[in-house]
Amino acid sequence: MTTPAIRRSDFLMTLAYATDLATGHSRDFALRSCVVAMRFAEIAGYDRTTRRQIYHQALLRYIGCNADTHLLAAAFGDEIALRRDLQRIDIGNRSELAETIVRAITRRFGDAPPAELAKAVERGLAEAMQVSVPILSGHCEVAQRIAERIGLSAEIRENLGQLYERWDGHGLPRGLSGEAVKLPVRVVTLAQDAIALAEADGLQTMKEMIARRGGGGYEPELANLFIANAQSLMGDFDRPVDRQTILALEPEPHDLLDERACEEAYLAVADMIDMRMPFTFGHSRAVAALCDAAARRMGLPSADIRDIRRAACTHDIGELAVPVSTWMRAGPLTERETDAAHLHPYYGERALAALGGDGKAVAALVLRHHERIDGSGYHRYVRGNDLSPAARILAAAEAFQTAREARPYRPASSDAAAAAKIRAAVREGRLCPDAVEAVLACAGQASRRASAASPAGLTSREIEVLRLIGAGHTAKEAAGLLGIAPKTADNHIQSLYSKIGVTTRAGAALYALERGLLQEAKSAA
Ligand SMILES: [Fe+2]
Ligand SMILES: [Fe+2]
Repeated sequence: MTTPAIRRSDFLMTLAYATDLATGHSRDFALRSCVVAMRFAEIAGYDRTTRRQIYHQALLRYIGCNADTHLLAAAFGDEIALRRDLQRIDIGNRSELAETIVRAITRRFGDAPPAELAKAVERGLAEAMQVSVPILSGHCEVAQRIAERIGLSAEIRENLGQLYERWDGHGLPRGLSGEAVKLPVRVVTLAQDAIALAEADGLQTMKEMIARRGGGGYEPELANLFIANAQSLMGDFDRPVDRQTILALEPEPHDLLDERACEEAYLAVADMIDMRMPFTFGHSRAVAALCDAAARRMGLPSADIRDIRRAACTHDIGELAVPVSTWMRAGPLTERETDAAHLHPYYGERALAALGGDGKAVAALVLRHHERIDGSGYHRYVRGNDLSPAARILAAAEAFQTAREARPYRPASSDAAAAAKIRAAVREGRLCPDAVEAVLACAGQASRRASAASPAGLTSREIEVLRLIGAGHTAKEAAGLLGIAPKTADNHIQSLYSKIGVTTRAGAALYALERGLLQEAKSAA
């Protein structure tokens, strides 16, 4: 089957969703800011090139903000709560900023004796700039690099390098001022602050705050134009925004990502997710490489191999919703923290579901990456019949790779010890033996099986045919969808029937259902 190219904007929406989670913004914040900023651009009469830059700045402003989050968390505790507090204040106002920092440190050291807390506050205030400037510089640089890897222009990348700069020069890290701060940056900062302020205190207060900050954080002329048109720009600011709206807003050209560009974009997202904490660096890439090799070894169809690789790159994107301070904890998590952590596959699925093309199949795998055959995984506690071969490989590869990486509460296992651990999970009925052996063989561990075969020794083409007829397609329709002759499809059907020991389409459908072979197809429908 050929892979349809996807709109790059679809990809940007996934990134926008993920960064909204990571920065404590409200649902669809970046998408809604894109709508508001593009309306503003229309009113202001900006040309297509400027509108295009504004569009991208609104969706991607925070894509670099995941870098070095552990340093932010070490200094200020729950970084998502801190970022939420920062959204509403005027960062150029030193007393508001100091108050926010004190609140964060108090949250972080709240249990400490008063004298110790006072010391921590004093130290935090003294070191705030020293800690923040390198981190914010890193955010700018990482945002630019990710933008380059997903193929965005030099102008868009330059804007992303200025995300914290302000009109009055009190921004960070370079303290640019006036028109040295690019117009798309000035517009998007204004639109995003307006939404955050309106969410906190309503439209009227938002207008007053924006007016007060004109000449400070915002260019006076832009602030005045915004306030004069606040109703038409922001009247529906809290309504959800759908995918079609964002796609339609993109000024031409509507770039498509071909297969190769898509692969690179997925790897860029993998790196973005993993660079949040030092112990996850390279995690998603490594899981993707294992999944790719194991899926080939098991003879999965090429579309499944592509989907599992992409799912592996993005499987932990939902982790961004959970503060780094939780993941960095060396001691046990509270029940509430565990619940939040266990929801990361759900948030991941939601982020990816926005993708066009085959996004739903990828999302379905992400949703299941911590599920186990005996129902002991999370977060939906599904069992084996809901887990396709691809889902089983992803679960095995993820468990193996995680075991050989260090975590704050345990050291890294050797490859042999990690292999023993996931083989134990097979014996306990939690992980699929075929998937585990395929992963281990691909990781250079001696395989305990001659070959970790696909179900019943089906070829990848037979699995594709089985999936289609299992989903209710006739042999002729399956032939058409796969671009093969009906006679060839018939031959595949006869061969697969005999391999799985059935004689009817219904029997084949049940077989496919029981082995989870229909899950991704169903989710993608
Ligand atoms: Fe993971
Ligand atoms: Fe995970």
